[in-house]
Amino acid sequence: MVAAVLPRPRRSTLTSGVTEKLVIRRAGLADLDAIKSIADAHRHELGFVLRPALVRSIAHEEVLAAEHSQELIGFVEYHHRQDRQTTVYHIAVVPNYRQQGVGRALIENLYKEVLAHGKQTVQLKCPADLPAQGFYARLGFRISGKETGKSRPLVVWILQLPLSEPECVV
Ligand SMILES: CC(C)(COP(=O)(O)OP(=O)(O)OC[C@H]1O[C@@H](n2cnc3c(N)ncnc32)[C@H](O)[C@@H]1OP(=O)(O)O)[C@@H](O)C(=O)NCCC(=O)NCCS
Repeated sequence: MVAAVLPRPRRSTLTSGVTEKLVIRRAGLADLDAIKSIADAHRHELGFVLRPALVRSIAHEEVLAAEHSQELIGFVEYHHRQDRQTTVYHIAVVPNYRQQGVGRALIENLYKEVLAHGKQTVQLKCPADLPAQGFYARLGFRISGKETGKSRPLVVWILQLPLSEPECVV
């Protein structure tokens, strides 16, 4: 498979007020309530995110948090499978901070984790009715299939790593 080239942002995230103060870090148990409340606020997009499952993912170091001025404004939860794939379970950014590069920063930091764990692909399934499809397309993901899903159709998105030079961000 051909390695993906990550499209660069149309706007400069480096000069954005948000990304200047943005910290992407591994989530800890102290972040659990904030992450759970972001997840609960996005039940339509993410489904019901169970607290014990979040605790497990945090314990396995499989959640990244986006923090701005000490406020938790987004997260991505994922899982490094036994094979060469990392699966994104959930990603959300609070509405006031969207379209400012936070989701991109979460995914780009996830790439570092993916490569550090020797994985080659990032995959996720996104309900077909969500506007988030455009986000994945902008980040260089490709549609690898469609599924019926339990309650609604899903689009399967995949990204092959490592990203090509000189676009590589990690
Ligand atoms: C999807 C989500 C995480 C994106 O976060 P974000 O911080 O707004 O994304 P960014 O600002 O980093 O966007 C990165 C790029 O994707 C594009 N993008 C973001 N959302 C988009 C959308 N809904 N449609 C089309 N493009 C989009 C941006 O324009 C940007 O392009 P650029 O870098 O070339 O300028 C956020 O919209 C969200 O939390 N949505 C609700 C939860 C959700 O739907 N999660 C996904 C479930 S599958």
